[in-house]
Amino acid sequence: MKKSFASRIIHWQLHHGRHTLPWQGTRDPYRIWLSEIMLQQTQVATVIPYFERFVARFPDLPALAAAQEDDVLALWSGLGYYSRARNLHAAAHVVVTRHGGTFPARPDTIAQLPGVGRSTAAAIAALAFGQRCAILDGNVKRVLTRHGGIAGWPGDKKVESALWALAESLLPGTAIETYTQGMMDLGALVCTRSQSNCAVCPVNADCVAHTQDRVQELPTPRPRKALPEKQVQMLLLLDRGELMLEKRPSQGIWGGLWSLPELAPDVDAASHCRERFGFTALAQQALPQFTHSFTHFKLHIQPVQLQLAPRSDTPPGQIWLPLADALDAALPAPVRTLVRQLDHKRIL
Ligand code: ADE
Repeated sequence: MKKSFASRIIHWQLHHGRHTLPWQGTRDPYRIWLSEIMLQQTQVATVIPYFERFVARFPDLPALAAAQEDDVLALWSGLGYYSRARNLHAAAHVVVTRHGGTFPARPDTIAQLPGVGRSTAAAIAALAFGQRCAILDGNVKRVLTRHGGIAGWPGDKKVESALWALAESLLPGTAIETYTQGMMDLGALVCTRSQSNCAVCPVNADCVAHTQDRVQELPTPRPRKALPEKQVQMLLLLDRGELMLEKRPSQGIWGGLWSLPELAPDVDAASHCRERFGFTALAQQALPQFTHSFTHFKLHIQPVQLQLAPRSDTPPGQIWLPLADALDAALPAPVRTLVRQLDHKRIL
C-alpha cells in the first residue's frame, strides 16, 4: 500500500529538508517563537542575521520583557512590519506577568499572545512542545490547495476552513516536529509559487494539481478590486546635514515608527514648515513622486526636500539625525527608500 501523505513528508524532510537554520536543533520556545514571528512575511535568508543579532542582545524571554520598546524596534529596523516587534515585546510581558515567565505549551493559550495567530501558535506548539496540531501558513496553503485540488482564494473564509480541515486530517501520529518542518520546507523549496519542482516532490503521485496539470492555476489568486488611493507630501527637512524625523502615534499605520512630516497635497511646503515648526526654508526641491501600496489602499507620495536655516530648538516627538544614522532608525519602508536615495554627498 502507498505510504501515507504524512510519512512521505516526514521521510522527505529527514533527507531533503532544512536542518541547520539557527532556530533549529532547539526546543527553546523563545527562539522558536521569535523565529516564527520574524518569518511571517519575510524570507529565511533575510531573517537569519536579524535573528542572530536579536538573540545575542536578548538571549531569553525575561531579557526581552525588560527591554525598552525603542531598542526592540531598532533591532527590527529593516525587517519591516513593525507591529510584529511591538506585539513580540507585549507578548513577552504577558508571559512574564500572566504565565510566571514560562512559555505556554497549549496552542490555544499560545494563540492568545499578541501577534500570534492560529498557525503560528500551532507551529510553536509542534516545534517546541511536540504537540499534535496543524499549521496553515502561506507555504502550507499552497501545498494543500495544490495537493487537494482546492479552488477559491485561500483568504476566503470557506476555503480557509476547508484547508484547516484538510491540514488536520493529514497529521501524523508521531514525529509532528519533522512533519511540521517538512510542510514548511516543501512549500519553500519544492512547491514554490512559480516554477515548482514537481518531479522531486514526495507527494506528487496523488497531487491533484500535478496530475491534472493545474499547478499554475492553484492557489487561486486574490480577487482583484480597485484600492482606494490617497495623496500626501512628505517633507525631508534638512539642517546642517541632519534630517528631521517625527515619532508616529502608536496606533494606526506605521505606529511607533520614526517618519517624515506629512501634509495634504495642495499645501505649500515652505509655508507649512514655517507655520507648524517655525522653520525658515532656504531652498525647496520636489523629488520624484512614487506610490506605496498597502493591502487596503495606495498612497501616492510626493517627497519635498527643504534646506532650512539653522533651527534653535527641538520640540518633543522630533529627532534630528545625521543622514547616515537615520537609516538605523525604525523607519517605514518607503521612508527608508527615500532616505537611501537622497544624495548624501550633496547635502549640507
Ligand atoms: N517559515 C515559517 N516557519 C519556518 C521555519 N520554522 N523554518 C523555515 N521557514 C519557516
